[in-house]
Amino acid sequence: CGIVGYTGKRQAYPIVIDGLKKLEYRGYDSAGVALQTGDAVKVYKKEGKVAALEEFVGEQSTEGTTGIGHTRWATHGEPSDRNAHPHVSKSGNLAMIHNGIIENYASLKNELIKDGYEFHSDTDSEVLLNFIEDIQLNNNCSLEEAIRIALKRVTGAYVILIVSAGQPDTIIAARKGSPLVIGIGNNEHFLGSDASPMLAYTKEVVYINDYELAIVRPDELILKNLGNETITPFVQKLDMELAAIEKGGYDHFMLKEIFEQPTTIADSLRGRLVLNESKIILSGIDIIQEKLLNARRIIIVACGTSWHAGLVAEYVIEELCRINVEVEYASEFRYRNPIITDEDVIIAISQSGETADTLVALERAKEQGATIFGIVNVVGSSIARISHAGCYTHAGPEIGVASTKAYTAQLAVLMLLALKVAKMKGTISEERFVELSQELNSVPEKVEWVLKNEVDNIKAIAYKYKDAHDVLYLGRGYNFPTALEGALKLKEISYIHAEGYPAAEMKHGPIALVDDTLPVVFVATKDVYHEKVISNMQEIKARKGKVIAVVSEGDEITHSIADDIMTVPVLDEVLAPILTVVPLQLLSYYIGVYRGLDVDKPRNLAKSVTVE
Ligand code: G6P
Repeated sequence: CGIVGYTGKRQAYPIVIDGLKKLEYRGYDSAGVALQTGDAVKVYKKEGKVAALEEFVGEQSTEGTTGIGHTRWATHGEPSDRNAHPHVSKSGNLAMIHNGIIENYASLKNELIKDGYEFHSDTDSEVLLNFIEDIQLNNNCSLEEAIRIALKRVTGAYVILIVSAGQPDTIIAARKGSPLVIGIGNNEHFLGSDASPMLAYTKEVVYINDYELAIVRPDELILKNLGNETITPFVQKLDMELAAIEKGGYDHFMLKEIFEQPTTIADSLRGRLVLNESKIILSGIDIIQEKLLNARRIIIVACGTSWHAGLVAEYVIEELCRINVEVEYASEFRYRNPIITDEDVIIAISQSGETADTLVALERAKEQGATIFGIVNVVGSSIARISHAGCYTHAGPEIGVASTKAYTAQLAVLMLLALKVAKMKGTISEERFVELSQELNSVPEKVEWVLKNEVDNIKAIAYKYKDAHDVLYLGRGYNFPTALEGALKLKEISYIHAEGYPAAEMKHGPIALVDDTLPVVFVATKDVYHEKVISNMQEIKARKGKVIAVVSEGDEITHSIADDIMTVPVLDEVLAPILTVVPLQLLSYYIGVYRGLDVDKPRNLAKSVTVE
């Protein structure tokens, strides 16, 4: 979910609505605002995207210089008007928005029902709000005190923003486990799940930590912990331009982000890959150098597309550094009681730096003595802050829900890491190090080549296969994680069922799906497995499947077998995943567009999943 708040001299409604649009990638099942005016709180909310809310509000009064807004990704309760936020308390005095999950909501709800409360939604959020009001009334205490008492009883994750009819010009906010940023203006304050809603107004921000409570008024920001001790806010300067979060002439953020990749990959390598001195500078590694060199194993923890980047890293690190690597889904790892020791190094990969499962998995591993290295895109995010050391990917803000440029930036950084560790450990020859460094340096221009030369061809292929029901993606070795990522991209954007598989393993099941209606995408660039992949291709052809292949420039043999070809420049097989994913991103994008879908906001998905 995305949350926004404003208190200051200006009208809050347009600022909150604009902020919600910037955060819509975090969820878009429903949207709502609460405006504080005089001694009243007015709430508007609606199922659907922010545009539906705006239409619903229409000409109704939106007076007020203090307001909060929410765009929802449903957890408890279906997407509907009544489950939309803000929720209003029984007395009608308080309105609250919530991002996260209250795990013990059922027992709290029972307590409240016994006390005569009635609920108007299926959400855990409404329970929390009335729990707060109940405490306030029973203890005759301030709202701030009631929030503190309530939050000590709550388990789960939350960011809440509350406005009260009785407290003009005030927003009270608190966080645990979900992100909250406060922007400082001139006699005004902005609140957001991330900095994008406030970027047009200020670059001075405070990242709120877990178990902190903020009392925000136009001219003051008071920060306290749950023990009521005052904390001095740590003001940071944002290094982000407004243009970075706008579409800049592209039809969709996803397309813009695909086309940004030559730049974002180069940005992730810049200053780190020092070719003329044959070295790699990753200062984050220096801090944990000993741990890394002596690591018994590396455990990579991530979700979604970031997990696929982890899988690529497993192949590369094992090959180049000869360290045992395991790649874990954060959601499984955190509950599995894994065996972790202080000789393990955990690499956390996350675009947002806020994914709840990854964050908690890291907290658990840290408690058990593991060293955490974060590879994160969003500066100042929770995962970046709990890591012992780390390295930012420099992809810039990624708004399209399906990850593209963040993925290739993660791969670029992981390649740097593998090369650097291999050099430190002496598991790579100087010759090979130089060769791979030069190849890595050439990746941005090779991605550029694909974007210049292949788009029309890929569009035509997308059009041809846009009505497929299922698509199989196959690859071996370094190309196997790319097959998984290609399939995930297609599922996310087009709602076509797609499955990624190791090309050889296909014989043990998925081959049963093959008939003349099934397109099979092969990631088949030149590598040591190439001939074997061609045999797998023949097996599909023999059963009348349609073969679409990503091939290296100049590969005539594959050309003659496949029905459709997407070409990429020749690149060392170790690095191929950064390049071969690009045509697959484009294929998914255009299939989604041809099917008339909202590729930036695919149904049911959210960019930043801050619930488990
Ligand atoms: C969500 C997004 C995916 C992303 C995953 C992990 O599911 O829709 O695109 O890969 O979360 O997110 P992270 O921010 O941790 O990389």
